Amino acid sequence: MPQSQPEILLEDSEGIARAAALLTQGALVAIPTETVYGLAGDARNDTACARIFEAKGRPRFNPLIVHLPGLDAVAEIAELSNSARDLAQAFWPGPMTLVLPLKPGHGLSPLVTAGLETVAIRLPAHPTARAILTAFGGPIAAPSANPSGQISPTTASHVIDGLGDRVAAVLDAGSCAVGLESTILAPSDTGTRLLREGGLPREAIEPLTGPLITDTTPGRIEAPGQLSRHYAPSVPMQLNAPLDDMSAVRVGFTEADGGDLALSQSGDLVEAAAALFRVLHEADALARTQGKAAIHVAPIPETGLGRAINDRLRRAAAP
Ligand code: TXA
Ligand code: MG
Repeated sequence: MPQSQPEILLEDSEGIARAAALLTQGALVAIPTETVYGLAGDARNDTACARIFEAKGRPRFNPLIVHLPGLDAVAEIAELSNSARDLAQAFWPGPMTLVLPLKPGHGLSPLVTAGLETVAIRLPAHPTARAILTAFGGPIAAPSANPSGQISPTTASHVIDGLGDRVAAVLDAGSCAVGLESTILAPSDTGTRLLREGGLPREAIEPLTGPLITDTTPGRIEAPGQLSRHYAPSVPMQLNAPLDDMSAVRVGFTEADGGDLALSQSGDLVEAAAALFRVLHEADALARTQGKAAIHVAPIPETGLGRAINDRLRRAAAP
C-alpha cells in the first residue's frame, strides 16, 4: 500500500491561505523559516500541540517555541524587559529566540510552555512564515520539522522524508537561507544567558548585552538541542578528521579539502551553516547507498557561525 503523502503547498496566496486554514482546523503544517522548516500547529490548541509531540516522536514534552508576527503580539503574552526590548529591536525579525516571563491570560496551551513560567518566542524573518502568521492571526508553535533526534530539515523534501503523512501539508519554499536553528537567549537583569547557539552568532549579540552567560545548570536540559546526542545520521560520525579514509563518506569544510561533499565552496561560514543539515542528509544517504560505515568531517573554524556548526556536529557525532 503506498504511503499517503502530505499536501504540497506553494509560496503563493493560495498556499498561504491553505496553510492558515489547516492550522485553524488544528492540523499540522510544515512551514519554511529562514532557519529550518518548522512543524507548525496552533499554540492555543492542546490537540494540535499534542500532535506536534506525537509527529516528532519526542520522548518527552519539552517546551516549544512560539512564533509571532510582531512585537504587539509578543506584548500580549510575555513581559518585555528593557534588555529584552533592546534585543528584539536589534535582531527581530530574525534567527533569535527570547525566553521571556509569561503574562497572565496568555492563552497558550500548557503543552507549549511545559508548565514553565516563561515562554520561548521568535519572530521569523522568512516572508512566507510571516505571511502565514498574519493570515492565521494567532501564535504558532513550531519545533524543527524532523523526527526527534534526527537531522533538522532545510528543504521540503527533508520534511517529507522524515515525517511523511504525519504532517497534513508542507509549504515548499526551497532551501532555508540560515540553515541552523535560532539562537536562544534568556535576558535578565543580571545578564543574558545563551541557552542554544544558533543562526545569530555570539559576536553579533555581545556588543549589545555584554558577555553572554553560558554556564547552564549541570544536568538540566533546557532545549532538546542541548541533548548530547541530537541531529544524528544513521552511521557514526568523526569530527576534525583527515579526509583520506575512503571507507568513510568525507565531508570537507571547503571544496579544496577534497571530500565527497563540502559545506562551502571557499570557506564561508554563512554558506557552510546554510548547507550543514542538507550535507548531513546527503552524507547519510551516500553512506547507505555506497555501504560506507562512517562519516568523516574536516575541522570547521570555531568562530562566528562556526561555533553553532561545531555544536551541531558534536551532537550528531556523540555516541
Ligand atoms: O530556528 C528555530 O528556532 C526553529 C524554527 C522552526 O523556528 N524552531 C526550533 O524549535 O528549533 P524547537 O521547539 O525545536 O526548539 C525550541 C527550544 C526547545 O529545545 C526548548 O527546550 C527551548 O526552546 N525552550 C522552549 N521554551 C523554553 C523555556 N521557557 N525556557 C527554556 N527553553 C525553552
Ligand atoms: Mg529540533
